[in-house]
Amino acid sequence: MCGIVGYLGFSQAAPVLLSSLRCLEYRGYDSAGVAVIENGQLAVLKATGKLSNLEVLLAEQKPQSTIGIGHTRWATHGVPNNNNAHPHLDCTGTLAIVHNGIIENYQTLRSELTGRGHLFKSDTDTEVVAHLIEDQLKQTGDMLTSIRHAVSRLEGAYALGVVSQRFPETIYAVNHRYSLTVGLGDNESYLASDSVAVRQYTNRILRLEQSEIAEIGQGVVKLYSFDGIAVDRQPVVVDTSTGAFVIDKAGYKHFLLKEMHEQPTVMRQTLGKYLKHPNAPVDFSVGNASSIGSESCAVNLTAEDLSGVHRILVVACGTAYHAGLVGKYIIESLCGIPTEVEVASEMRGRDLLVNQHTLTIAVSQSGETADTLSAITEAASKGSLTLGITNRPDSHLCHITSNLIVTECGIEVSVAATKTFTAQCACFYLLALYIAERIGSVSPERLSQLKGELLAIPILQEQVLSRENEIKQKSLRHAGARDVVFVGRGVNYPIALEGALKLKELSYIHASGYAAGELKHGPIAVLDRDVPVISILVPGALYEKTLSNAQEARARNAQMIAVAVDGDDNAQKTFDTVLSIPPVDEFFSPLLTVIPLQLLSYFIADHLGRDVDQPRNLAKSVTVE
Ligand code: F6R
Repeated sequence: MCGIVGYLGFSQAAPVLLSSLRCLEYRGYDSAGVAVIENGQLAVLKATGKLSNLEVLLAEQKPQSTIGIGHTRWATHGVPNNNNAHPHLDCTGTLAIVHNGIIENYQTLRSELTGRGHLFKSDTDTEVVAHLIEDQLKQTGDMLTSIRHAVSRLEGAYALGVVSQRFPETIYAVNHRYSLTVGLGDNESYLASDSVAVRQYTNRILRLEQSEIAEIGQGVVKLYSFDGIAVDRQPVVVDTSTGAFVIDKAGYKHFLLKEMHEQPTVMRQTLGKYLKHPNAPVDFSVGNASSIGSESCAVNLTAEDLSGVHRILVVACGTAYHAGLVGKYIIESLCGIPTEVEVASEMRGRDLLVNQHTLTIAVSQSGETADTLSAITEAASKGSLTLGITNRPDSHLCHITSNLIVTECGIEVSVAATKTFTAQCACFYLLALYIAERIGSVSPERLSQLKGELLAIPILQEQVLSRENEIKQKSLRHAGARDVVFVGRGVNYPIALEGALKLKELSYIHASGYAAGELKHGPIAVLDRDVPVISILVPGALYEKTLSNAQEARARNAQMIAVAVDGDDNAQKTFDTVLSIPPVDEFFSPLLTVIPLQLLSYFIADHLGRDVDQPRNLAKSVTVE
């Protein structure tokens, strides 16, 4: 939610800020703005809507400056308009603030500051920070002291960037339970909420830890705790050589389409990193091969640790939650350990029933989702073992989990998660095999067979993707649907949920996912000619029952669509449209069945003229609770 950037050096600031903001636009695209110091005066340029609007403004105004901060917004407090766009100013108009996060006590502070004569121009929580600093600056004349005083008044989680024309050679940054990275070049410094934006310029980076203030000069940075004590931490040199930061559509119409097509490669990379061949053990003790992070990832759960685990709890949001539901099925089948999956935001405000016999797994593509981070932090505080599954080895999640599995997806630009979903599912298969191997819940022969089948999945995914044109043509028959119901059973129930989420967020057509057996318990009432049912129908233990549920829907005149395997005559007879996939074992089928549903959502959304890479109202990294 919201992205902060900064630049200080000898080049023109505006193009650097713009390029950095481009890397962060996934965090919000309600408005964007910059504040630069031009001829000793603070100048602010803001535009509602996408970054391209700010780009036009900057091209017209051409601000001349070598220092500035910038922001891309996902609105929380106040509608998306120019007034509420960041940066926000103090009353003197000489100090500008950009902010990510929420100041929970802003209303109290705003009343207090208004009472002291401060004038507010926006509806945001952010603006109080500018006025708090202004007050202190008047008294002390010292920026660091003023910022320290301001943060001592703030409640909530936040990251800030601050510039003032009184201090034209310094950018100040604050991190409190968020992420901020400073990049250091030769006489140049960069600031960003996501290190990806910094790494396009330099490989020397310094992450702000929790409750730290940075005083950033040209190519130098000093760190302080909120108590004003200097912190001695040196920048680390990271690998920027492999081009993982290249944000390029590679000829595809959208990032989303490209990322769906990357799934077999990503699957090979993620599986190949931890499992070399069917007779090898799953090994999570390998360093991080990805260039997007510096930390190594490892799972160090011994047979003894695992035999003490009585329950597994998965916490996650959105698509990552659906991957967790697939994980539950896999872990319970292979390891026999009861596994629950909770929407992370529902873990707040209640007593978590976890202890040292629980393994809590947090799944988060970004590793920055506030709800997920809070849930795993609370579980850890109750003595639970912790494990993170993320695509970002440089994220906050990695710092707060004792065990870590990194999906090898590269950057996912499109706001809707696709390749990271299948990679998260792959990690659950690997983790279940790893646990089963250690606790002996599956015979060695069966383990080798399962590993062999898992390693063959990328080829099958390629076969599904090669049917893209056929899937497009069949999907567009249903682009006029008013509402869509997705159903699946067992391991494909989460895929029904994920299919419905993808369709909703990309096309804005309402959709719901249900366990197929639930259809008759209520949802069947919504079915008619304009409400198609999409069933996921894979041969296996649940096939007959899923087919019967489909018949119930057919009897209500609904248009019937199936994701079914090649050669399934029942599917051809029962359904109006069949999106076919190659034959696959039910156990591994989610890694394939989700792909036609991703493609269907994409093609319908594109056909309806939706902004598929940046759907309305969404942001990729949801850093507020
Ligand atoms: C949907 C989507 C979201 C995220 C959710 C969690 O396409 O992307 O539902 O899955 O916001 O995000 P992460 O995985 O970053 O914690």
